[in-house]
Amino acid sequence: MSEHILSSLDNGVLTLRLSRPDKKNAITIAMYAALADALTQAAEDDAIRAVALLGDGDIFTAGNDLADFMAAPPVGADQPVYHFLTALNAFPKFIVAGVHGRAVGIGTTMLLHCDMVVAAEGTVFSMPFIDLGLVPEAASSLLFPRLAGPQRAAKHLILGEPFSADEALGFGLVSEIVPVSAVAERTAAIAACAAAKPQEAVRIAKAFIRDTGGSVQDRIEAEGLAFAQRLRSPEAMQAFQAFFNKKTAA
Ligand code: COA
Repeated sequence: MSEHILSSLDNGVLTLRLSRPDKKNAITIAMYAALADALTQAAEDDAIRAVALLGDGDIFTAGNDLADFMAAPPVGADQPVYHFLTALNAFPKFIVAGVHGRAVGIGTTMLLHCDMVVAAEGTVFSMPFIDLGLVPEAASSLLFPRLAGPQRAAKHLILGEPFSADEALGFGLVSEIVPVSAVAERTAAIAACAAAKPQEAVRIAKAFIRDTGGSVQDRIEAEGLAFAQRLRSPEAMQAFQAFFNKKTAA
């Protein structure tokens, strides 16, 4: 674990904090590696039921460390940044991010892979790839237009115009806006709520929500199959039983 990625486990919620505030939480190769390891282990560890992602200091993150970009550009798929993005994209459990201040570059694009995003009032999002002579990453050229439409994708991914928390809420990149002092608490509360749910049901629902391919009819059938299996699952049995026990006790 990098000294700049802090982790703690509380009641099934793994909290990962970007913690390099003197460099605006710019993400180094070592930090990507630590995040990738943490997510890969969290995916397998039954003690971890949800993940919360936060940033220390006055901004969420200034994105990729620009010194690393110059000194050690990530070339090829076997790079910590790709391990992180792959682990995040494949992460089967609930993950919520809480952002504040600024979310630059991958600080914004990683949010496209989170199940929910809490943003502080006044947060500014930006994806300045083109201005840096780069191109979109983290599948943002696919996922961002899907959310915001191709016109706004061009505005923010090509012109690189920053956008506000209100705009992000409007096109669905963030799920709610709270005062900056409430971001960590609200993010933790959402993660705790997800952690308390039947986990296999969460996993299946998340996979459906994130898979946007296929026809509506295909989805009705796939959900129907999963629904039928879930009806006989220990999680469903327990929930039904709890309902009837409550009725008997009342
Ligand atoms: N990579 C490496 N170092 C970074 C960094 C980055 N992405 N972003 C900020 N830093 C460092 C600065 O070099 C500075 O270091 P120093 O104190 O040793 O000089 C420190 O963090 C503080 O940054 P500063 O620019 O003074 O803070 P600010 O509050 O004025 O501005 C930002 C904050 C985020 C707006 C500004 O730092 C910025 O634009 N950063 C670059 C963002 C970027 O282009 N990211 C890549 C996206 S692909």
